[in-house]
Amino acid sequence: MAEYRVGRYDYPGQLPGLDEELLPALRETLLRGDYVLGAAVDRFERAFAGYLGARHAVGVNSGTDALILALHALGVGPGDEVITVANTFHASAQAVVRVGATPVLADCRPDNYLLDLEQAEAAVTPRTRAIIVVHLFGQSVDMTEVHRLARRHDLLVLEDCAQAVGAYSGGARVGTTSDAGCWSFAPSKNLAAAGDAGAISLGDDQIAAALRRLRHFGQDKQNEHQVVGFNSRLDTVQALVLGHKLPHLDAWTRQRVAIAAGYRERLAGLPVSFQDGAGPGEHVYHLFQLRTERRDELVSHLRGSGVDAVVRYPHPIHLQEAFASLGRRRGDFPVAEDLAGTTLCLPLYPSMTADQVDLVCAGVREFFSS
Ligand SMILES: Cc1ncc(COP(=O)(O)O)c(C=O)c1O
Repeated sequence: MAEYRVGRYDYPGQLPGLDEELLPALRETLLRGDYVLGAAVDRFERAFAGYLGARHAVGVNSGTDALILALHALGVGPGDEVITVANTFHASAQAVVRVGATPVLADCRPDNYLLDLEQAEAAVTPRTRAIIVVHLFGQSVDMTEVHRLARRHDLLVLEDCAQAVGAYSGGARVGTTSDAGCWSFAPSKNLAAAGDAGAISLGDDQIAAALRRLRHFGQDKQNEHQVVGFNSRLDTVQALVLGHKLPHLDAWTRQRVAIAAGYRERLAGLPVSFQDGAGPGEHVYHLFQLRTERRDELVSHLRGSGVDAVVRYPHPIHLQEAFASLGRRRGDFPVAEDLAGTTLCLPLYPSMTADQVDLVCAGVREFFSS
């Protein structure tokens, strides 16, 4: 990252109070030793549930496991179909396969790059058990419409909230109105651990208890295993890091939103377009997407001028070798395919300076003027 004048992340900038608060707490934990499901895990789970307005938050070791454990606890398995979107990170579909169910993909919309609910509804069959919506890049799917669709077909609703911590949909935070909100706190995320970490938010007491059991070898009590479980606990050390950062999250989101507004304003008039920022709630700008027919050239130009632009995601799910067994082909999900070939992410993190934003905008403008 050091070679870029505008990098992708600013980890030191996400650690206010490091010396005074976090390091002493880490030191104390390292010396005391309650590394597994220690007191800080419980504290973070309560704080995160409170932040969201959810009844429960259950910490697990990644966003991927959050999806897998949630599907498992809700009883989704072999013979079931689960609808999700072709334009997402691998894990959203991977989790479905990992519980033995079949992912059924639907295309996304060209305006907001999110699951097209009409196409999702057209994909429902008698075997469909659940729908996983993905609040991609920080923009929320319209949960009111998702719940209407789910009620019509008696489907479970899971939300992949990995990229949208803090976002709202219809007046509630994402991850609070469905059967399970699945969270990633991987280092790239808006609320980032110092390694892998995740959580599931939900309202049902029994499913929450089942998830706590599942993540911990299927036991409520040491050595009494009621079900075959997983080893997928949120580490105490990661819970300390996350609990330390959580009070700053909304301020960081406001900074992200301001930087994104600056990009939109200053790049207006160029032959580019953006993910629709208006929606059922506020976009939290995990990633700032810019669309241009000259995507690959622009990425090279920006990287050559010290701006760490990247592509998220260059291949939709159905064109990945891992999902060849779904039997889908190029042309099946034209919007997802188009976005995979035309979008890139401009750097965006809360502590970006005005000079850095200038540099990025100048790089994009220079590219289109040459
Ligand atoms: C949309 C989405 N879903 C799921 C995941 C999986 O999360 P994790 O990396 O914590 O397993 C990620 C991030 O990596 C993601 O971006």
